[in-house]
Amino acid sequence: GLQRDRRQESARDQDDETREPVKYDGAQLWRIPISNEVERNAVAELETKYDGLKWKTVENRVDIMIDKSARESARSYLQNSNITYRILIDDLQKLIEVENPPKEEIELLQNRKGHRLTWKAYHNFNDIVGYLDYLAKTYPDLCSVQTIGTTHEGRALKLLKISNGHPANEAIWIDGGIHAREWISPAVTTYIINHLVENWEELPSYLKNIDWHILPVLNPDGYDYSQKFNRLWRKNRSRNPGSNCRGVDLNRNYGYMWGGEGTSSNPCSEVYRGKGAFSEPETAAVQNFITSQRKGDYFKAFLTFHSYGQYILYPWGYSKAITPDNNDMKLAGTQAATAIRNGSGATYQVGPAAILLYPAAGGSDDWAKGTMGIKYSFTVELRDTGRYGFILPASYIEQSGQEAFNFVDAMARSVTIL
Ligand code: ARG
Ligand code: ZN
Repeated sequence: GLQRDRRQESARDQDDETREPVKYDGAQLWRIPISNEVERNAVAELETKYDGLKWKTVENRVDIMIDKSARESARSYLQNSNITYRILIDDLQKLIEVENPPKEEIELLQNRKGHRLTWKAYHNFNDIVGYLDYLAKTYPDLCSVQTIGTTHEGRALKLLKISNGHPANEAIWIDGGIHAREWISPAVTTYIINHLVENWEELPSYLKNIDWHILPVLNPDGYDYSQKFNRLWRKNRSRNPGSNCRGVDLNRNYGYMWGGEGTSSNPCSEVYRGKGAFSEPETAAVQNFITSQRKGDYFKAFLTFHSYGQYILYPWGYSKAITPDNNDMKLAGTQAATAIRNGSGATYQVGPAAILLYPAAGGSDDWAKGTMGIKYSFTVELRDTGRYGFILPASYIEQSGQEAFNFVDAMARSVTIL
């Protein structure tokens, strides 16, 4: 309702026209338990009265960012309410400034043989697209690039297909970067691409006999905006008629149970669902592409990468209802989590999205399963568990990429070796 929309409204969403980058000097990230009404109300108060910005909610706790100006009063408010909290990030701006290596260092790392990606730094959208084009040019028998749509700001949504061309192949969809600020997502998505292409000859046949359709940056307008103007931008950059606030939460804009719980009709909300299902060019492009592909059960898995929290999530996201094949989903998810743990040692929790996190309708995972009938539909929340949150240093890209690859490999096994 309205009350909730107001709470989710963030003044920091409205800085569109001021083209000065937003600074987060002295802003902190706090972790607050929400196991009773008192704690739940306190979080609501932090949002309304102390301008708190929620980063992540799970079943029993919230990570919320508090600006420097509100820190002291918010601290005594919590103290008076007898609520203990933990400071996860002490000064957000400081973290933002060291998240990526310095420009000169990145340039030294870059191989100039045709593309600019390093997996030791976060790159801009043009460099990522340049890499896809490079692959299509360098490995024309294996890789092809297709533009599946155009964003509000005119960027091409470029999809990479990796395929040996066997007509009997089944397909797996992978996307990254639906949420702008989750930079680790496009980074691991290109890591997966690199791993598949560079090791193609040695790959097991269950990986080679799949048509891989990979969209590394689903929300390039938002990604670019998060790199240039506001590191914490989440939505796309569409204009919302009648409002000064821009952007739609693309993961509330898909057509299965669109408009339900965990979404907002307020354009200023971080979880604004848009004016209709698939109202946005980015989500419409995904819908058009997937429905245009070979009919029947060509797509066996739909995998979408987010951050943060280390979760392997599956439908439903819109409600706490359980799917009839919950056991299959749980098994595939658990096997993938085991593969990750055997690799890096990292722990990923597995479960239905609405239960493990919170109900949120209009997600791509629910649409892939509920509307398109793609059984193995998973959302992965990558690293970490709160030390850095969205501002995960670039030095974690390679390890996260390896974890994501292990996840994808396990999924490919689940869908092909049955
Ligand atoms: N953090 C993701 C989001 O809020 C989780 C999505 C899980 N899937 C879902 N259908 N709710 O978008
Ligand atoms: Zn996300």
